[in-house]
Amino acid sequence: MRPIQAAYPHARFRRTRRTDALRRLTQEYTLTTGDLIWPLFVRDGENIEEPIHSMPGVVRRSVDRIVAAAEEAASLGIPAVCLFPYTDPSLKTELCEEAWNPCNLANRAIRAIKAAVPELAVMTDVALDPYNANGHDGLVRDGIILNDETVEALVRMALAQAEAGADILGPSDMMDGRIGAMRTALEAAGHKDVAILSYSAKYASAFYGPFRDAVGASGALKGDKKTYQMDPGNSDEALRLIERDLREGADMVMVKPGMPYLDICRRVKDAFGVPTYAYQVSGEYAMIRGAADRGWIKGEAAMMESLLCFKRAGCDGILTYFAPEAARLLNGMG
Ligand code: PBG
Repeated sequence: MRPIQAAYPHARFRRTRRTDALRRLTQEYTLTTGDLIWPLFVRDGENIEEPIHSMPGVVRRSVDRIVAAAEEAASLGIPAVCLFPYTDPSLKTELCEEAWNPCNLANRAIRAIKAAVPELAVMTDVALDPYNANGHDGLVRDGIILNDETVEALVRMALAQAEAGADILGPSDMMDGRIGAMRTALEAAGHKDVAILSYSAKYASAFYGPFRDAVGASGALKGDKKTYQMDPGNSDEALRLIERDLREGADMVMVKPGMPYLDICRRVKDAFGVPTYAYQVSGEYAMIRGAADRGWIKGEAAMMESLLCFKRAGCDGILTYFAPEAARLLNGMG
């Protein structure tokens, strides 16, 4: 497409920027509550909302408080929440058996939400790091992250989440072959309508730091995740990974982190035209929040701008810790 315009002064771009009405009429992309997925951290106990030091304003919730948050999400018009468990260190093992325990924290939270707010979509995280004694997303032997053995474990984990009632599975592990293995297993087990939102292009990023604090993985993690997560210098590889996951049966795809990777979002949307999501990750949240709390930027404006820019980059939705705050503003409840 090549827009045609007259020469100055017949063309004056400021005409359509003159008033709010004209600006709204000519805006190309918009953010709505329907674009938001709210990540929630789950912990054990009752009636607990525990602050996370590196993510001001974000808390870990006990299952009863998760249900309250889910009800809030639904009332704000947020279509989905995504659950991340903070697992008691005593339950973390080398074989990660807790990951497919039907009664683990994540699965209990899924059941509780689906019982209370069935219309809200529940998304999960499929990766072993919350359950792994060494903090990695995959099984480790002699310092090597095992691929095929991890995929088998992830399939068991995915089936337990589907059984608990999850609507969308979010494999965030970056092992090879996991989408096909999960899709085959889901079909065989009768979970034909469970969607997979693959973290297809997930980079080895320094912006995950606060999240690892939130799920208690920072202390456990030995080394880095560079043998399975992507190199931030790569772009074509993201397209190859997205195509691979689509061919294996992913329904939706994700780019992660978000803001430093908007070029990848745009390439993915243009190349495949599939439902495309970005994760505005913990470090991005912490940057905006931290600067806003110090009065260095206007928090609400920066938040809304950052979210709108994901839409402009081609995303259909955004996983963001700002979801309830943004939804309140979008609903005129600021
Ligand atoms: C791990 C996982 C991570 C995030 C989501 N799932 C961290 C990691 O890969 O180390 C990061 C989310 C965030 O930073 O907000 N499976």
